Amino acid sequence: MRIEPLEILALALLGALFTTTVWSQPVEPRPLSFTAGQAARGEQAFLTSCSGCHGVDLRGGNGPFAPPALIDGALDGWLARPPVDLFRYIATQMPAMRPASLAPETYAAILAYLMSRNGFAPGAETLPALAADLAGLRFAR
Ligand code: HEC
Repeated sequence: MRIEPLEILALALLGALFTTTVWSQPVEPRPLSFTAGQAARGEQAFLTSCSGCHGVDLRGGNGPFAPPALIDGALDGWLARPPVDLFRYIATQMPAMRPASLAPETYAAILAYLMSRNGFAPGAETLPALAADLAGLRFAR
């Protein structure tokens, strides 16, 4: 039997479809963890670099441009998105007057502290300080 070019194309398309459906099943994101020690270090860093604007109680409103609250549901929009989004935001935009001025580990600790103040319990694994390592993780309270 002669195989027509169109048949080859159809087979190739079928093959591609099969591979995409079978092999590209989205991997279920794992819950993001942080340690209690990390959150404690994050609290110190927050008091040094963030509370001047967002308040020691995280209720906001301290500095110029009405800094928003970071507690009591204020971060829920961020917490519904992948953690890497919030990590990138604080690591590139905050502190507002000196953006991106802290070490990645410090931003990770601060994110751990923000989580601890927003209903997340500490766990065994450290919150990663690299955006690439945060991909594939999700917020889970
Ligand atoms: C100089 C004042 C100032 C400092 C210091 C500061 N922020 Fe902010 N922050 C702001 C302002 C103003 C906004 C609102 C920015 C906007 O809406 O564009 C903001 C927004 C945020 C948001 C987004 C909140 C939301 O509802 O979307 C987060 C999270 C945040 N800051 C975290 C931090 C962290 C963490 C630090 C310390 C590393 C920090 N900020 C330091 C002023 C500050």
